[in-house]
Amino acid sequence: MSKPILVSGIQPSGRLHIGNYLGALKNFVDLQNSGKYSCYFFLADLHSLTEYPANAGEQKKRILELTADFLAAGLDPKKSLIYQHSQIPAHAELTWILSSIAPEGDLRRMTQYKDKSARGEEANAGLLFYPILMAADILIYDAKFVPVGNDQDQHLELTRTLARKFNSKFGKTFVEPQGLHTATPRVMSLKDPTKKMSKSQPETCLFLDDSPAEIEKKIKSATTDSGSAVRYDQKEKPGISNLLDIYCGVTGKTVPQAIKESKGKNYGAFKQAVAAAVVKHLAPFRTRKRELMTHNAKLKMVLAAGSARAAKVANVKIAEVKRAIGIAL
Ligand code: TYM
Repeated sequence: MSKPILVSGIQPSGRLHIGNYLGALKNFVDLQNSGKYSCYFFLADLHSLTEYPANAGEQKKRILELTADFLAAGLDPKKSLIYQHSQIPAHAELTWILSSIAPEGDLRRMTQYKDKSARGEEANAGLLFYPILMAADILIYDAKFVPVGNDQDQHLELTRTLARKFNSKFGKTFVEPQGLHTATPRVMSLKDPTKKMSKSQPETCLFLDDSPAEIEKKIKSATTDSGSAVRYDQKEKPGISNLLDIYCGVTGKTVPQAIKESKGKNYGAFKQAVAAAVVKHLAPFRTRKRELMTHNAKLKMVLAAGSARAAKVANVKIAEVKRAIGIAL
């Protein structure tokens, strides 16, 4: 029997942080290496256009950097399809087709769009359409599983709604996907541990390629409560709980194990242990990434080969969709 299909993507919209890693990228590698799935991992470069970078050179740099992040973390083009979704026109075509069954009200209720509008900033139409493109990214490959952080749950819900709606209108065409979360589906900001760590606020992030000194400094100054015992309590001790999550994420230890180890340690000593564990875990990543960044031609080749293979799969599906709705004569 063929393996279930698993799809996920990351936007090339700047440096990856430990939330992207523990909520998504590290899990991609584990899922790939489990051998249980047929894996598709892509750079969501069309999504990142909702905020154009300063210039085309910067855009290209971000795409190559994210490719290096994928490979440095352990994604392997021999085991997974790694591609750029902008290079596969079927994604954009399916987005348009799905847009005609997507309720406009649902799109306006999506957190990202709502937050931006609520801040009085003018959101572009791309941001409104963004969740439909995400649905297309998933449905075009018949994905059963989608590993993501929990900030993407709302988008996955819409994806399922669109699949159901399309299937009932035009006949069974799409698979309804389900999300896969890690034990750390929502890493919190180092400055305000009641908010999600987010690329849009770089000062709150621990980046994967921060230097060991930067990592130590950021963790040392992470916001914690005024107590002294290391306990897991997301309500009363959100800062310490977040650091425990990060510690467990990089060491593979359980929270009770980590708490036992930290018995008698004050916050300062605990933070030192967290920083040391993060530095140690990320050291091979940093070395591999530095090396990969000197081989742009290889990175481009990986993307081109992966995109060509993914396009073959996507083209078969979009042809099926066009037949189902009656525009393929
Ligand atoms: P993006 O690029 O914002 O984030 C990439 C992945 O990182 C996860 N993530 C987090 N996980 C835990 N804690 C955090 N603080 C944290 N911040 C981010 C995200 O949940 C995500 O899994 N819309 C997607 C990209 C996308 C996609 C798709 C994903 C486009 N099409 C199809 C899956 C399937 C996004 O903007 O992710």
